[in-house]
Amino acid sequence: MKIPFHRYSFDKHEYKAVQRVLQSGWITTGKECTAFEKEFAEYKSVNTAVAVNSGTAALFLLLATLNLQPDDEVITTPLTFVATANVVLHHRAKLVFADINPETLNIDIESIKAKTTPRTKAIIVVHLAGHPCDMKPIMEWANAHQIAVIEDCAHAIEASYENQPVGTFGLGGAFSFYANKNITTGEGGMIISTNNSYENFWRNLKNHGFDLDPIKRQEKNTFKQYDILLPGYKLNMNDITAALGRIQLSKIHLFLQKRQQIAKQYLEFFAKFPYLKPILPLPNSHSAWHLMIVKNQSTLPREKIIHNLVKNGIQPSIHFKPIYEFSFYKNLGFNQKDYPNCEIIKNQIFTLPLFPDLQHEELNFILKILSTIF
Ligand SMILES: Cc1ncc(COP(=O)(O)O)c(C=O)c1O
Repeated sequence: MKIPFHRYSFDKHEYKAVQRVLQSGWITTGKECTAFEKEFAEYKSVNTAVAVNSGTAALFLLLATLNLQPDDEVITTPLTFVATANVVLHHRAKLVFADINPETLNIDIESIKAKTTPRTKAIIVVHLAGHPCDMKPIMEWANAHQIAVIEDCAHAIEASYENQPVGTFGLGGAFSFYANKNITTGEGGMIISTNNSYENFWRNLKNHGFDLDPIKRQEKNTFKQYDILLPGYKLNMNDITAALGRIQLSKIHLFLQKRQQIAKQYLEFFAKFPYLKPILPLPNSHSAWHLMIVKNQSTLPREKIIHNLVKNGIQPSIHFKPIYEFSFYKNLGFNQKDYPNCEIIKNQIFTLPLFPDLQHEELNFILKILSTIF
């Protein structure tokens, strides 16, 4: 049996939606994007949603709002996908890592406090694995020190903390629809915000600085020369992508139910192995169950477990190698000793397949192989 780390779930509805757009005569940013933004905004109970071509673009645009200067500092977690850190460097600000909480693996409030200086302009929290960060103390600290909070919600589309959807706590949330995300368009992303004052800025900046969206230009029956309001980027979503996203969003509750069922089975299994510790959401939150990350505290080295899974056709993953260990980041002068919790877990964690289309037999096979390994 071959079990991939992820398999996306598309059916005739996605195929038809894409075909409809291909036959419509309009394939770039247009009505489908507008509809996807509206539906996503409704889903997240916000008034602003701006569709972009990746989660990275969403993070980049959110940070752009702050007009960061070279001495400005942005705090984030080292246990994330590299995009979260890269965007800080794209804005030429100083990247500061806070340590993680060893239980949740999310950014730790005490470490955020210790790393805050008068130059701290933003905190980017990452809801790792779909489990929300502890937003209450983070927001209290950020508000008291006038620090912007940006939420990296790439793993956490369906998640909420104290019944408030993630992405709605601070300046805005960045969502990803990358190929392995809870809903996918292959590549794609979305900014959401409860504050609509930056919406036009994000819209201008994502599309060359145009004063009018291409669809709005086309809708008018008169010719109008567009204007350029600022030197923008090219980060807009197209209608083929948006059409896919709309169908995926319509299935999100079903997908989440399946993820929850699979997660439950994994957790029941791990209860029998006290040295295998799955990462769990905080009790006051609802997870999107994006990833099944497990801490290996047995005497077996993590690499041996991974090797055994792969040998049996099961594809695991690691979320993540700490960013300060990648070649480029090593040269930026981070000191591993500053992240003791991250250092403890970095060689323990591995991630098992968790996706709605994971079949019973496949899950049973994974659990059987894990039983054999241990
Ligand atoms: C935590 C995190 N942040 C940001 C991103 C970037 O999203 P995208 O690939 O859509 O640019 C990812 C994507 O994998 C991610 O896992």
